[in-house]
Amino acid sequence: MAKLKYQRPKGTYDILPEDQPYWELIRRHLREIASFYGFERIDTPIIEQTKLFTRTVGESTDIVQKEMFSFKTKGGASLTLRPEGTAPMGRAFIENGMKSWPKPIKLYYIGPFFRHEKPQRNRNRQFYQAGLEVLGSDAPIIDALIIHVTFLILQKIGLEDIGFQINSIGCKDCRPDYNQLLSEYIEVQSKKITPDTKKKAKKNPLRLFDSKQPKDRRVAEKAPQIVDEICSDCKEKLKSVLEYVGHLEIPYQLNPFLVRGLDYYTRTVFEITPSKDQGYDPKNSLGGGGRYDNLVADLGGKNTPAGGVALGLDRIIEEMKEAEVKLPSKEKPKVFLVHLGDLGRKKAFELVEVLRKANIPYEDALGKTSLKAQTKAADKKKIRLRLVLAQKEALEDKVILRDAKKGTQDIIPIKKAPQEIKKKLEAD
Ligand code: HAM
Repeated sequence: MAKLKYQRPKGTYDILPEDQPYWELIRRHLREIASFYGFERIDTPIIEQTKLFTRTVGESTDIVQKEMFSFKTKGGASLTLRPEGTAPMGRAFIENGMKSWPKPIKLYYIGPFFRHEKPQRNRNRQFYQAGLEVLGSDAPIIDALIIHVTFLILQKIGLEDIGFQINSIGCKDCRPDYNQLLSEYIEVQSKKITPDTKKKAKKNPLRLFDSKQPKDRRVAEKAPQIVDEICSDCKEKLKSVLEYVGHLEIPYQLNPFLVRGLDYYTRTVFEITPSKDQGYDPKNSLGGGGRYDNLVADLGGKNTPAGGVALGLDRIIEEMKEAEVKLPSKEKPKVFLVHLGDLGRKKAFELVEVLRKANIPYEDALGKTSLKAQTKAADKKKIRLRLVLAQKEALEDKVILRDAKKGTQDIIPIKKAPQEIKKKLEAD
């Protein structure tokens, strides 16, 4: 095919009507389950100051180093298309005075995010996330609540087999000691590590665990494990989170190598795998989250422990398709509207309003004018009841109700159309 003159940007896609039922199902269950558990919707801008992400997501991360869509405004400000939703949550918390709101604050969002990644299966440059965030509590039950609500939403949209990988990466008191230990290990292993990872690990040694390079992975597998080194408070909290999750019968595995690729995390971190029995492969992750207890304070706000999750909806929809999730069927039109002549077409608006108020779905072939063409369209759609608005009947505010199967027809007042249609449908 010849190259089109106008194409969508690389890594973006159109969501066509045939796929909308998947999105609608997700939106519905997110809204229903999240709000039942007391989460309220928040929408933050698609653009934020670049420094919001460099400060929180972190200079050593792939996102900040190479994936942000950043640009300068005419006034010289540096803005970025949001690559994720948690840093904006911290900013919004401070900017909207949420420190005085009753705690914990539970928020949810859904929308597009942007990362300049190499487009491949399920990795897009404009992708979609649904997120849950809880601010203002460091209780392990909050971590469990986030995991539980995520689990319920995924179950409800038909992903029955998912599992969680969970770890703790310590707090600001114990992490520095572990970082020191890990940096020493990296130093000793330095020859066996790729230059890119070595560079990132200088800024944050935990980045060793994000690398997908087999060479780095071999080194990472033998590294000191963070769960062994965290302080007793962090250990207690992890134990407590795992107890709740076990009690809720949510399938999980403790994964000592999971650190998550964003710098703001503290303590509990987790990722969602498409199958509970499958090993962990970051490429297949359906979502991830964890605690970010220092993020609000790092942005200059009051010390506010928090945690959350983001679901990667592009991938989730692929999973739903693979799992052949049953979608709610659209209500079929009960009646076909045939309009003849100018007055018939004008009256059609009135008649459609009568049907809409009575909740009777209809179909028509607007633009086609002859009786023959419209009848053919109705036959093709297999709709046997037809409302025919012809000039003579339209003048008297009436319409012909025809049953194409039985070959009968009645002339009825427009206002009475819903009752008459219902009578015919019930008589079946
Ligand atoms: P994340 O792990 O960077 O976390 O992203 C969460 C999910 O978004 C991933 O597991 C993946 O499914 C999806 N995702 C990420 N990048 C892409 C992409 N380029 N194309 C398609 N899907 C993608 C966060 O974003 C954190 N803000 C999560 C969080 C919320 N932590 C605490 N609260």
